Amino acid sequence: MLHPSTADTVSSRFMGSWIDRAQTRIREWLTPLDRVAAMIPDCDHLLELGCGQGILIRKVAARIPRITGVDYDPRKCAMAREDLCRGLPGVTVVQGEILTFLAAMPDHAVGCVVLADTLASNPPHVQERILAESVRVLARSGTLVLKIMDTTPVGKFVCSRLLSELIYRVLRLSVSSDQRLFHQSSVWYADCLARLGLTTQLAALHRLLNHPFSHAVVLGVRV
Ligand SMILES: C[S@@+](CC[C@H](N)C(=O)[O-])C[C@H]1O[C@@H](n2cnc3c(N)ncnc32)[C@H](O)[C@@H]1O
Repeated sequence: MLHPSTADTVSSRFMGSWIDRAQTRIREWLTPLDRVAAMIPDCDHLLELGCGQGILIRKVAARIPRITGVDYDPRKCAMAREDLCRGLPGVTVVQGEILTFLAAMPDHAVGCVVLADTLASNPPHVQERILAESVRVLARSGTLVLKIMDTTPVGKFVCSRLLSELIYRVLRLSVSSDQRLFHQSSVWYADCLARLGLTTQLAALHRLLNHPFSHAVVLGVRV
C-alpha cells in the first residue's frame, strides 16, 4: 500500500498553489456536493471520514456544532485547515488513517458519519471493516451518509471510472491503496449496511440531476 506521507503526487510539489485550488473547484463542479450536504442531518457531532480538502465540512459547518474530519493525505489536511475550514468554530481536521482513528473512538459517539467517495480508495475487505467501525461509533438513530460512484448504469460508470483513473493514476492528485480503485455497487453497500443493522435508502443522484457520472448516495439509519 502506498503510504500517503511518502506519496510523490504531482500536487504535493505545488502545495498551496493554483493546482490545489483548481482541484477543489473541479471537484465541486463534477460532484453534486450541495445535494450530498443537504442529505446530512443536523446532529451534535459529525465525523467525515476521508474529508479531503474539507468541501463538505464547510457546507454544513453553520448548522452542526462539532465536526471532525479525518484524512491520511497530509496535503489535503493542510488545504482543509488553511483554506476551507479555516476559522470555522467546532471543526477539527485530523491527519490519519480511518481505521486507526476509529479504533480509538468509543461506541455510539457521533450522530452522523459521512464517507464521500472515500471507500473506493480501499480494497473491499477494508471497506467492510470501515463500514462496521463507522456503524459502531454511530449513536442510536444516527445516520451514515455514503456517497459513491455507482457501478450502474454502465455508461455513466465508465465515464466515472475514466475520470477517477485520470485523477488517481495519471495526474496523481489523490491517494488510494496502490493508486488502485475498488468501486462497488450501491446494492453491495446497501447489503453491507443492512447486515450491520441499519435501515437503508438509495438516492440515484445522477438520475435526479441528469448527471453524466454515476453519483449515488446510500443512506443508513441506525435503529
Ligand atoms: C475523493 S476524496 C473525497 C474528499 C471529500 N470526502 C469530498 O467529498 O470532497 C477521498 C478522500 O479520502 C481519503 N481516504 C481514502 N481512504 C482513506 C483511509 N483509509 N484513511 C484516511 N483517508 C482516506 C483520501 O485521502 C481522499 O482525500
